[in-house]
Amino acid sequence: MCVANAIASPIQVETGLVCRAQKDMRMADYPNTTVVLHPLVQHKLSLMRRKETPVAEFRRLLKEISMLLAYEATRDLALTSATIETPVTTMHNAPVLDGKKLVLVGILRAGLGILDGMLEIVPSARVGHIGLYRNHETLEAVEYFYKVPGQLQDRTVLVCDPMLATGNSAVSALDRLKRSKPGAVKFVCLLACPEGLKTLHEAHPDVPVVTAAIDERLNEKGYIIPGLGDAGDRLFGTR
Ligand code: URA
Repeated sequence: MCVANAIASPIQVETGLVCRAQKDMRMADYPNTTVVLHPLVQHKLSLMRRKETPVAEFRRLLKEISMLLAYEATRDLALTSATIETPVTTMHNAPVLDGKKLVLVGILRAGLGILDGMLEIVPSARVGHIGLYRNHETLEAVEYFYKVPGQLQDRTVLVCDPMLATGNSAVSALDRLKRSKPGAVKFVCLLACPEGLKTLHEAHPDVPVVTAAIDERLNEKGYIIPGLGDAGDRLFGTR
């Protein structure tokens, strides 16, 4: 059952367990996938989905959620220990990140919105961009730009795109990236759907996915349902 929330907000609040659908999801159907069910992420995502949400707020919310997704996606980064001077003493075994800088790769153009948030919490990350557009007839991804940092073999790469829809762009981006033999790769998105996860997992079973939600399905036009519409248009105010 749905009840109206406070008068000030037209958002509908489900009684009982918030996010029941996400929590009850058979995660065995989605191997190598993490859904970030943190209440702040889920609340902000619902605000983003609303069609009334203006561009500036959509952008801010994507940035905020991306920071929280980055927290999850980086939880297994390797640490080493260093000796440092605090104002009062020498500290041995202070944990610091090990190895070469993390690489964030944004799939243009909506991936830029995720990069903004991630760079807030990993400011020294290196950044790459992959430009892909969707052929609206075949829904296939066509590459028009590729620029990523060097020495990927020694680095962890987070590939970022808000919407894992057909999965074609994600697979193309990962195919291309893997030619450079990156050390480890994860795919970070805001919304996924069963079809996209299946396509991605079949092509790249070794690539973990971090997402804020797995929606119901893809429609015949390649949009995620219920989704949030065209992420690029909503982020940049085009349409
Ligand atoms: N890309 C989007 O921006 N939205 C969708 O629903 C699917 C793909």
